[in-house]
Amino acid sequence: MAPAASLRDWIAVLERENELVRVDAEVDPHLEVTEIVDRTVRSGGPALLFTNAKSRHPLLINQFGTERRMCLAFDTPSLDAVAGKLEDVLEMQPPQGLAEKVRGLRKLKSIADSLPKTTRSGPAQEVVLTGEEIDLGLLPVQTCWPGDAGPFITLPAVITKDPRTGVRNVGMYRMQVLDERRTAMHWQIHKDGRMDYLAADGRLEVAVALGLDPVTTYSASAPLPKHIDELMLAGFLKGEPVELVRCKTVDLEVPANAEVVLEGYVQKDDLTDEGPFGDHTGYYTGVEPFPVFHVTAMTMREGAIYPSIVVGKPPQEDAWLGKATERIFLPAVKMTVPEIVDYDLPVAGAFHNCVIVSIRKRFPGHAQKVMHALWGLGMLSLSKSIVVVDEHVNVHDYEEVFFYVTANVDPKRDVLLTEGPLDHLDHSPTLQFYGGKLGIDATAKGTQEGTREWPPEIEMSDEIKALVDSRWAEYGLGAAPAAVDGRHSSLRQLLRR
Ligand SMILES: Cc1cc2nc3c(=O)[nH]c(=O)nc-3n(C[C@H](O)[C@H](O)[C@H](O)COP(=O)(O)O)c2cc1C
Repeated sequence: MAPAASLRDWIAVLERENELVRVDAEVDPHLEVTEIVDRTVRSGGPALLFTNAKSRHPLLINQFGTERRMCLAFDTPSLDAVAGKLEDVLEMQPPQGLAEKVRGLRKLKSIADSLPKTTRSGPAQEVVLTGEEIDLGLLPVQTCWPGDAGPFITLPAVITKDPRTGVRNVGMYRMQVLDERRTAMHWQIHKDGRMDYLAADGRLEVAVALGLDPVTTYSASAPLPKHIDELMLAGFLKGEPVELVRCKTVDLEVPANAEVVLEGYVQKDDLTDEGPFGDHTGYYTGVEPFPVFHVTAMTMREGAIYPSIVVGKPPQEDAWLGKATERIFLPAVKMTVPEIVDYDLPVAGAFHNCVIVSIRKRFPGHAQKVMHALWGLGMLSLSKSIVVVDEHVNVHDYEEVFFYVTANVDPKRDVLLTEGPLDHLDHSPTLQFYGGKLGIDATAKGTQEGTREWPPEIEMSDEIKALVDSRWAEYGLGAAPAAVDGRHSSLRQLLRR
């Protein structure tokens, strides 16, 4: 088995796994679909294929809305297993002996096979609309929230090339539909698509692919360094190259399996007011100038399916795209900051608001070293707060983390207030893009860090635990609850008992 090769194969997988419901009742993509999806996502419900959303084209939504579907998308038992595949390649060492050489060659081949390959034709171009035929109104584009400025395309893979190097970039940037042939292009100031735009001398060609296989859709949202093509990551994670076709009106290639492709361009100083839009921060983002995207061709598969996603007050469907990034990028983060054991970006923190990180602490100030490292690392640099705990703390258990934050922290000594770049959409800082950052060192402290002797944590001895295990039946207390490991206990489990 391998991840689904196209959106249609993916829909077939979801149906086979009882993870998709077709809705034939007429629904309005203006607000009504959001309310249906919001309720479905929050109750852990299925992907929805609306066949009658006031358009000839069906609308697919909530394809990524649970951990199970995210794992099905990657055809993996867990997201950590996907990370393991990447870790395997990142940690390649010079091989010793024949067996290791063969294994090494296989790994190198898996990298070589990740490169996208161009084919002569593909389903994405079964229908080609140009000039006056182009009409974005053909698609069931959602107006998600009552205060939104209009309909927004929310799940696009936006493809550009760096005009200086020719290196491709794929990013997921929302697009406000302005009229039949124009949208806004919301690439934020820290994003690579915008870098390509700024590097262009006048006009930058852009292609937007909608309705891809799930791994390629995910890859558009992955925070790769600028010089690495997201389609190569997609090929690596799929285990086979992404097939591309050349666009009809611009010098770019797009995934051959796309349901819909919008070809066109943006131009220097050709800006429009974009927003408001109800975003993943849980607030409306304000009106700001962003480039106008002019569509020069709209190509499609016959009976194209339009993909959408709703973002808003967390949790929403994008929570699992974010969790996939958190897990998949952990090995890359550890390459730079190897003392990191694990990290968690809580969904309720909209990802950029909080990072909890556990470390193997070795020296005074180690927690602060890790905070600064993360504030200097890719998109993690935009994190507003970082909590550092010791290696034995389960970063995914927020109550356990809370225990150590309240028990181990002397606010005067262990809270670091600094400043730096913040997420484009963060409404809280006084200045947009820049403001305060909070670091909380919740690790155990040593005397070198100016504390009194640190007390030992309470833990029952293994001997007594074994004794109680062996005698439990004699006590007449029913089934035996698992023994609590004082340092690894889950407070949530304890409280439930
Ligand atoms: C559903 C969804 C919508 C997103 N919308 C935007 C957006 O409108 N603008 C933006 O700059 N980033 C947006 N992002 C985040 C980017 O896709 C992400 O930062 C990605 O890494 C950007 O690609 P780049 O690093 O090649 O610029 C969105 C992510 C998701 C999952």
